[in-house]
Amino acid sequence: MDNLEKMDKEYVFGTYARDYTHFTRGRGARIYTNDNIEFIDFSSGIGVNSLGYANKGLVEVISTQAGKILHSSNLFLIEPQARLAKKIVELSGYKMKVFFSNSGLEANECAIKLARKYGENKNRFKIITLKNSFHGRSIATLKACAQDKMHKHFSPFPDGFIYANDIKEAMTLAKEDGKVVGIMLELIQGEGGVRAFDKNEVLELSQFCKNNDILLMIDEVQSGIYRSGEFLASQVYNISPDIISLAKGLAGGIPIGATISSKDVFEIGDHGSTFGGNFLSTSASLYVLDALDSYKKSGDLALNIELFENYLFELKNNFSNIILDVSGLGFMRGLRLINDEVLANILNLAKKHRILVLKSGNATLRFLPPINISKDEIIEGFSRLKGVLLEL
Ligand SMILES: Cc1ncc(COP(=O)(O)O)c(C=O)c1O
Repeated sequence: MDNLEKMDKEYVFGTYARDYTHFTRGRGARIYTNDNIEFIDFSSGIGVNSLGYANKGLVEVISTQAGKILHSSNLFLIEPQARLAKKIVELSGYKMKVFFSNSGLEANECAIKLARKYGENKNRFKIITLKNSFHGRSIATLKACAQDKMHKHFSPFPDGFIYANDIKEAMTLAKEDGKVVGIMLELIQGEGGVRAFDKNEVLELSQFCKNNDILLMIDEVQSGIYRSGEFLASQVYNISPDIISLAKGLAGGIPIGATISSKDVFEIGDHGSTFGGNFLSTSASLYVLDALDSYKKSGDLALNIELFENYLFELKNNFSNIILDVSGLGFMRGLRLINDEVLANILNLAKKHRILVLKSGNATLRFLPPINISKDEIIEGFSRLKGVLLEL
């Protein structure tokens, strides 16, 4: 048997703090190692596997599509792409159009280009982002992250990003500067501690943007696709953004990104992608959205979110010596801990207790379970997590 860990270390760039647990298959919210050790997955591949592992219907759609055509290029009509765009727009309830790409950073890159084109004739190009935000790792989206630690090594970065400590400051800076075309934020900061912005503040920001012809750009790469309990977190906040970025859970594990906007300013040649919106990703995504839409309508999504939330609050009450707070919303949740050391200890022990959880900034344990996780899997997962906390 090849030594895969050695091979990985020798041939793959060391950009990840990789755990060498070797998963080979999964079913539902359960994932198995090569030695057949079963874990409950409260992370879904960092918010990607929205239908869990080996979902029968999704597997069938992907293999049927692969047997017909995977890719023809965007020079030709792609039936599932057109149908998916219509579906996304209908589920959002906004009057928008879609550009398809392959990842979250690409969805944001497109959002930034769209905003700059919108502002071109108004001589406005700057975009304000919020402290601790995460928008991707291309040169432009790195610069869009309002975190100093992301701006080492790779300069020069593009101009035109301004950082605000909070929503109030974002509005003040936009007013003072005069060159601001958009304000971009995650409604729930995924990497920045699973923190949800206050609803009234976001409503005020939305009104401010409308009054001042400033684009409200919502990065829903992590919070979108039913993670908040609704198709989009923007619907929970009752706002109508100008641009929304989507990726992660949109096609249940097949790479995809989507930028949706009411600002129809792109013309031929302004943007493009070889793979974006191809037959494979868009047919998979159509299946994922149909399945999740029905699931939400059944009422089970809301019930399971409530169950999950109850367990989180129970843990907070029982372990108040180390858990300060429950954060986030829907199936995008965090437990804020007293310090990073406790977080590191929990992550270590979680492996022993066969439960997959994630870390986030601000000493926060992060939960992004599959959207269709079952009641039994939730109960089993929290029983394991309780074991972790008891052993701390
Ligand atoms: C809010 C947000 N935006 C953008 C990204 C970047 O997405 P990707 O890794 O697919 O480029 C992420 C990834 O974690 C994210 O959470």
